[in-house]
Amino acid sequence: MRKYLVAGNWKMHKTIKEAVSLAAALKQGLSDINQERVEILVCPSFTSLFAVHSILENSNIKLGGQNLFWEREGAFTGEVSPLQLLDCGCEYVILGHSERRKYFKEDDTTINKKIQIALEAGLFPIFCIGEVLEQRQASKTLEVINSQLEEGLKNITASSMEKIVIAYEPVWAIGTGLTATPEQAQEVHQFIRGWLKEKFSYEVSSSVRILYGGSVKPSNVSALMQKEDIDGTLVGGASLEANSFVEIVKGSL
Ligand code: PGA
Repeated sequence: MRKYLVAGNWKMHKTIKEAVSLAAALKQGLSDINQERVEILVCPSFTSLFAVHSILENSNIKLGGQNLFWEREGAFTGEVSPLQLLDCGCEYVILGHSERRKYFKEDDTTINKKIQIALEAGLFPIFCIGEVLEQRQASKTLEVINSQLEEGLKNITASSMEKIVIAYEPVWAIGTGLTATPEQAQEVHQFIRGWLKEKFSYEVSSSVRILYGGSVKPSNVSALMQKEDIDGTLVGGASLEANSFVEIVKGSL
């Protein structure tokens, strides 16, 4: 049985003070959650990671980064390495988010390098994939997903694959208030699981967690979580406020 994962992506929001206060509120609001069933993760900005880590130590909430660079160290001005994320207490890292693809021209080849170094360093990657609206309208969704999986996960072994989380985030649903219907999401999740089975094995396909992301809210989370192949959510806007994130975690169970 796959353990659910509910992850909050705080994007470029919050000062250190604000991030610490949100983390403290989440720690309190989520203290009675059954950790056997769900893993809870927050991904603050780099500048707040260490401060948030000290608040969340000894709690049931884990920490992740929103990006990393594909080298361990060196002359790469403005970048953050996997070792620096580990040093701040991160266990996970979001990679290939659609905003990174759109504004920073990341493609599946660079994302693949990032996935490889994250694994080498001991971080669990959350690999984001998803189609844009024109691709969905042209009935190209599964084709796009297939190519993102093929390129982004090139040269990944079965044992590494079990450490990777996949997040299906239709780009047209991110930050727009438009959520994919549970049926639309399930169709893609099922396709991803089938791809994993064909590429690796039944064991791999049944252990990898596939999250849905894109305008997840307290009001739509339980319908999404009813679907067989949806193992959790990656939440942006609704993770910035303690009550709504707490409700999303509770509504997932
Ligand atoms: P959203 O963002 O929940 O605000 O749509 C999701 C994401 O970008 O991961």
